[in-house]
Amino acid sequence: MQDNWEALERECRECRECALCQTRKNVVFGVGNPQAEIMLVGEGPGANEDAQGIPFVGKAGQFLDDMLAIISLDRTKVYIANIVKCRPPGNRDPLNVEQDACIGYLHRQIALIQPKIIVSLGRIAAMRLINDKFRITKEHGVWFDIDGVRMMAIYHPSALLRDPGKRPETFDDLKSLQKEIGRVCQHTELNKPW
Ligand code: URA
Repeated sequence: MQDNWEALERECRECRECALCQTRKNVVFGVGNPQAEIMLVGEGPGANEDAQGIPFVGKAGQFLDDMLAIISLDRTKVYIANIVKCRPPGNRDPLNVEQDACIGYLHRQIALIQPKIIVSLGRIAAMRLINDKFRITKEHGVWFDIDGVRMMAIYHPSALLRDPGKRPETFDDLKSLQKEIGRVCQHTELNKPW
């Protein structure tokens, strides 16, 4: 049977496949444009996201919006989701069992959106989406072709808030993203850098 967005969202919001359903306030399904050519994937909701049901609304989210603005992107031009849709208590990394229980929702979101580009935000997303030995310090900004989708990882915005020394490398990665968008996307409007 063909999947559809409404059914997927409903199923996800009712999910009880792992223990995170017992402590969540809200399922954080995703935000942005489901017709976008670019997806950004984080690891999992924090306290603010859990309270509001929207990804990246805390300090890291504000910083992510600032990063997107550098290359004239915003939430109307991308779709943002997470590897796990419910908050891991105490902001710990999502456990493998939790990721395994949840990853099917992300794969279905990807199948419906059919993005040209997926950017992993941080190590956890990159290890799930690019390869399980991914080293963020060595491989951020590197492009991979996976199932016909251009993929790369950048440092997680929280890591950039903790360690501003990583920001120049991320600026280069964003410029590379901007260039790749110009190359492979068809309807994503960017203010040209020239
Ligand atoms: N960090 C994430 O990885 N995802 C969010 O939605 C918020 C913070």
